[in-house]
Amino acid sequence: MDALEDRSREQFEAWAQWFDRRLGWSFSHTNRHLLRLVDPSPGSRVLDVGSGTGILLQQMNERDTGLRLFGVDIAHQMLTAARAKLPDRVALHQGSANSLPYSSDAFDYVTCTASFHHYRDPPGALHEMHRVLRPCGRVAVLDPFTDGVLRRLVCGALEFTFRERDTALFTSEEMRDLFQRAGFVNVSQSSYLHYKLLTLGSKPAPT
Ligand SMILES: C[S@@+](CC[C@H](N)C(=O)[O-])C[C@H]1O[C@@H](n2cnc3c(N)ncnc32)[C@H](O)[C@@H]1O
Repeated sequence: MDALEDRSREQFEAWAQWFDRRLGWSFSHTNRHLLRLVDPSPGSRVLDVGSGTGILLQQMNERDTGLRLFGVDIAHQMLTAARAKLPDRVALHQGSANSLPYSSDAFDYVTCTASFHHYRDPPGALHEMHRVLRPCGRVAVLDPFTDGVLRRLVCGALEFTFRERDTALFTSEEMRDLFQRAGFVNVSQSSYLHYKLLTLGSKPAPT
């Protein structure tokens, strides 16, 4: 873990004690947009990167108890909060999005919500998501984006309110480009609540 990741981890260790109380409703609301477009088939292996207190994992588990769910997060306390509300069969691991502790081709879906802008090496994190996905697997990243003045103002206000440092936010075009450079195909995007962007992609089938 480098200094930047260490700072991010420290921030979220502290946030864990109030995260669900203050922000749980808002994150579960935006996650529903992702779940409308990403509907893992029964038995799928799904990895949530930056899984935090497990809000999305819990929502997926409630929809389909047959999913094989995994979460990885850099902050131990966020994982502890997730562990307290998820069944034991949901596997949780501490680790960095830039060095995922999983073998290649291991998952049918990789999701990532409200976490991508904290990564020290965003292209590297997308390469890791690509590596752990099986061919034809799907990736979904939901994060604020900065197209236009209004969205930049909203993002600036959020960063100020939550005293976020070291974040990297992108335009929709930059995100699309990052996805394509990481090797994803069939990239599509939709915005939600004006300032959140869902970018979807697939790992190509072997040739
Ligand atoms: C705003 S929270 C969102 C949590 C969750 N995805 C949700 O939507 O409720 C961001 C999460 O990303 C995690 N995170 C930040 N940097 C990370 C990294 N480099 N690798 C893995 N997780 C990271 C934080 O610990 C935190 O739990």
